[in-house]
Amino acid sequence: MSDRYVDFVNSGVGQSLARSVGLPQPVKLRRYEHGIDFIDGDCLVGAAPGAEHLDALAKVLASSRSSIYVKCDNPEVKGLLQVDGLAARDYDVVMPDKIRALVFDASGITNSTQLRELYNFFHPVARKLQSCSRVLVIGRPPENADTPEHRIAQRALEGFTRALGKELGKGTTVQLCYAVKGAGDGIASTVRFVLSSRSAYVSGQVIRVGKAKLAAKFDWDEPLAGKVALVTGAARGIGESIAEVLAREGAHVVCLDIPPAEDDLKKVADRIGGSYITADITHADTPQTLVDYFGSEHKGLDILVHNAGVTRDKTLGKMKPEFWDMVLDINLSSEERVNKALLEAETLKSGAHIICVSSMAGIAGTRGQTNYACSKAGVIGMVDAMAPILKKQKITINAVAPGFIETAMTAAMPFGPREVGRRLNSMSQGGLPVDVAETICWFASPASAGVTGNVVRVCGQSLLGA
Ligand SMILES: NC(=O)c1ccc[n+]([C@@H]2O[C@H](COP(=O)([O-])OP(=O)(O)OC[C@H]3O[C@@H](n4cnc5c(N)ncnc54)[C@H](O)[C@@H]3O)[C@@H](O)[C@H]2O)c1
Repeated sequence: MSDRYVDFVNSGVGQSLARSVGLPQPVKLRRYEHGIDFIDGDCLVGAAPGAEHLDALAKVLASSRSSIYVKCDNPEVKGLLQVDGLAARDYDVVMPDKIRALVFDASGITNSTQLRELYNFFHPVARKLQSCSRVLVIGRPPENADTPEHRIAQRALEGFTRALGKELGKGTTVQLCYAVKGAGDGIASTVRFVLSSRSAYVSGQVIRVGKAKLAAKFDWDEPLAGKVALVTGAARGIGESIAEVLAREGAHVVCLDIPPAEDDLKKVADRIGGSYITADITHADTPQTLVDYFGSEHKGLDILVHNAGVTRDKTLGKMKPEFWDMVLDINLSSEERVNKALLEAETLKSGAHIICVSSMAGIAGTRGQTNYACSKAGVIGMVDAMAPILKKQKITINAVAPGFIETAMTAAMPFGPREVGRRLNSMSQGGLPVDVAETICWFASPASAGVTGNVVRVCGQSLLGA
């Protein structure tokens, strides 16, 4: 599913034409390739006084091969220059011409006057960013603030990061990570994901991170080694890509789809060295079949990805009851039944990760999709309801909410709505299935044990529902 307009505006003649008549100018997004460092360019770090995550940040940044610069406005952040293994440089002494990543720890901002720290750090460097750069602001979850003034100031970070994402353009992404005090290594997987090319189509998001410990010898190159994953709806589209990326990261992936899709499903499973099950996810026997299969074949399940989903669009007055029932059952109720069975039988191991595929429609609502939007908003409700309950078993549950993704489904849309869907976001283009898959892979990592209860939009910062 190609977007010829992106190719055209990135050609010499297309670029000048688009510029002269004021058409959108999407850049070709940099996506993950094997061997690329997670920062892939010069990175500048700064912090407001009282920053809470500098030690953990130093540890993550030290694992990058990129040059790290420090804007030494306060004595605490200056301490990064002395951290063993980080080899950071003082930005006021050596200034790179172009910057790939900006990281600012704003967790110490305790009142609205101190929000000026954001301006002080970002204003001088905003125009030094290369295309497809990464910006990360780290804050304290407002609900965990010490005073009302602290809460107000931390909540204000959301508006700042969302606006910055919209104005930087050129494929640059901006995220806000609210990390609890003492999150420690809990921030590592999120910092690496949002600074890397894996998050090419994720921008303007607010991510909540809790505490987590990393295994002493954690392998970032193969984080899912030894893990078993189930991906529903894996015969094609986004599910196929999820299966590929999870396998690339070391997991054994069991691909599931309906019996008529067996040929395609088998091809996917064979290509990635995985296995497959044909089943209708809505069938009454399917939850028990999965309990039996993972109990006998794999001694349990580490990663469960609820991806299978359908649309049956009609305005509500014209919608047949079977279209309502089918969409709700496949997209929502079957997921609840599967979760219940796998949790009750303890097939999902302690430390497991459940990842659901919601949709922008579940956030913003879409005309002609009352059934679909209802099901996908229900998926968000499932994440909200289950995250606190599953914490006791050290199981995480998160969702991705894709926007316009280039698949067979979106290729079949009429030209007008398709073009609107593609361009109405900060990247002025659609995402690829791999963008959804990379985001799911971050949630599925053992290093993301502190990341739960999140709904992250993979939508290029769509203007819908923003
Ligand atoms: N493509 C997009 O732009 C987009 C946007 C937002 C959300 N999504 C969501 O992403 C997920 C994947 O979408 P896609 O575009 O790859 O769709 P797709 O239609 O290409 O793939 C869906 C897969 O699910 C399988 N499936 C359907 N019903 C099933 C059932 N009862 N049991 C088992 N498998 C079943 C299908 O056979 C198919 O292989 C869906 O949940 C969809 O709602 C997609």
